[in-house]
Amino acid sequence: MNSLYLVGFMGTGKSSVGKKMAERLKRRFIDLDDLIELKAKKRISDIFAEDGEPYFRKLEKNTLREISLKDKTVVACGGGIVIDPENIEIMKQTGRIICLTASPEVILKRVSGTGKRPLLNVSDPKKQIELLLERRAVCYAQADGTIDTTGLSLEEVADKILKCWTTN
Ligand code: S3P
Repeated sequence: MNSLYLVGFMGTGKSSVGKKMAERLKRRFIDLDDLIELKAKKRISDIFAEDGEPYFRKLEKNTLREISLKDKTVVACGGGIVIDPENIEIMKQTGRIICLTASPEVILKRVSGTGKRPLLNVSDPKKQIELLLERRAVCYAQADGTIDTTGLSLEEVADKILKCWTTN
């Protein structure tokens, strides 16, 4: 209960900012994707390649359900968590959702070369980013607050989240 869920597109800084927020709020930090990899004993990219995206989404939802039972955590979610309205419901019932955003150009710069994002492993990743951002816009809009991270330091993003957290 009373957890802080960070959502937003890949490369918007959820994990780095999440760690910082957990430090500031003296809370436990959970990276949902790391937990999924630990449970599945394989990398997200291998889950996508070997078991498919629908299987990954099931793991994602089950893992979210489990950790939502914990008190006062800071959770960095995978970028696609918001696609499933039930996930939004779970997060709303057990905490508040803050969405981090960045421009497609910044996202591309941050994710390129890592090879960790199976959904962006396409011939034109920039186009794919724009497409997914457009498709998911209504889902991300369900967050309790949105913070554009473009050009901001980790500390500045954390300050903004705190403000949003205390005023919402
Ligand atoms: C995904 C985002 C990834 C990861 C998976 C799917 C998405 O997490 O969960 O590759 O659908 O946007 P990050 O947002 O942490 O990269």
